[in-house]
Amino acid sequence: MLKLTKTTTFHLQATSTNYLRYKSWFADVKMAPPDAILGLTEAYLKDKNPKKVNLGVGAYRDGNAQHWVLPSVEEAEKRIFSKKMNKEYAPILGLAEFYNRSIELALGKDSEILQDKRNSTAQCLSGTGSLRIGAAFLGIFWKGERLVHLPTPTWPNHRPLFMHSGLKVASYSYYSNETFALNAQGLFDSLRKMPENSIVLLQACAHNPTGVDPNREQWCEISQIMKTRNLYPFFDLAYLGFASGDIDKDAEAIRIFASDGHQFCLAQSFAKNMGLYGERVGALTIVCSTKEEAERVTSNVKTIIRPMYSSPPIHGARIAKEILNDNELYCMWLEDLKTMANRTMNMRKQLTDTLIALGSKRSWEHITKQIGMFCFTGLKPEQVARLTKEFSIYMMKDGRIAVVALSTKNIAYVAEAIHAVTKE
Ligand code: LMR
Repeated sequence: MLKLTKTTTFHLQATSTNYLRYKSWFADVKMAPPDAILGLTEAYLKDKNPKKVNLGVGAYRDGNAQHWVLPSVEEAEKRIFSKKMNKEYAPILGLAEFYNRSIELALGKDSEILQDKRNSTAQCLSGTGSLRIGAAFLGIFWKGERLVHLPTPTWPNHRPLFMHSGLKVASYSYYSNETFALNAQGLFDSLRKMPENSIVLLQACAHNPTGVDPNREQWCEISQIMKTRNLYPFFDLAYLGFASGDIDKDAEAIRIFASDGHQFCLAQSFAKNMGLYGERVGALTIVCSTKEEAERVTSNVKTIIRPMYSSPPIHGARIAKEILNDNELYCMWLEDLKTMANRTMNMRKQLTDTLIALGSKRSWEHITKQIGMFCFTGLKPEQVARLTKEFSIYMMKDGRIAVVALSTKNIAYVAEAIHAVTKE
């Protein structure tokens, strides 16, 4: 029998402590792949090449290739600071003076939905957070029985976001790789074939990643098919006013659906249109059939938000609230939107012109036909790999570039590189 002395007792204790220290709870956890978009920024930051360009993430840059704080935002912040406001918790639903104006912006001042108070609206964490709360609500109340159909292609975060909310994901035809344009017939056919009651994710304007949107007649057709087939629309509105520089134009699809009598979910983001990327400002609206139903829905949305993050952050929402509720700031913001939209369209034209001037024989017409932050270049994965390896140009494998990150500082370099990998 082992006789315990002072020394052996100490030794046994030390061994069991070491055992606990080195015991692994997570030995089976596999390395996850880097994020398809934000992973590019991580790789870009590590790159030592002084000529490197990040065309991955959709984040607007000014003419000097720098992040741009909108003058309207700067002015709103000055006003907020001068008020010496507190840092109290926001209510679970966020700042009402922000989210009520946010939904008014999307639906329009004369919206019947708003007059009837049939909207359940909450401030959420930018576009992703708004999509996520809406998805969680549908996942819980439709018990994961309904499929969510996503366009092919779509923003890579849509799929995991809905799956994590307990919904099954399917896809529908959207874009033609042959014509670089909308596959309208394929889209209509997909909608006609979907099981009734399916959820359909629709990007309201400036489709990410293709930059290709249905025109007015096509939206009307989509709305009619969805009504006949009893399909539920879930709008992702990430670029209101940013796409064309005109809020009413960018809100066209949503307003068509509203006037056709659809009830829908709508996720709004103020990351791009106010440049409030890191502030996480957004709003979720669930349009209901009556005011009383909207109140019941809101009470349940609160029960989803509260255990997830309690209540949203206040600073960014205060900025948006200030801009949306003050006529002078609002007019300044409309100008800022035009500045961003115009610079983006200008970059599209300059990229096309430079490629042609370099002698490229390919057709680059689609660059100026597309709209919004992104251009779906049509570059193949192996060409993208060369751009990154040989030129330190970071972009998505599917050929998407953030045209908003082009500027006179880097456009010639980018065009030369694209020409070099596409000329043979
Ligand atoms: C993008 O698609 O690059 C943006 O929407 C940023 C993001 O969160 O992915």
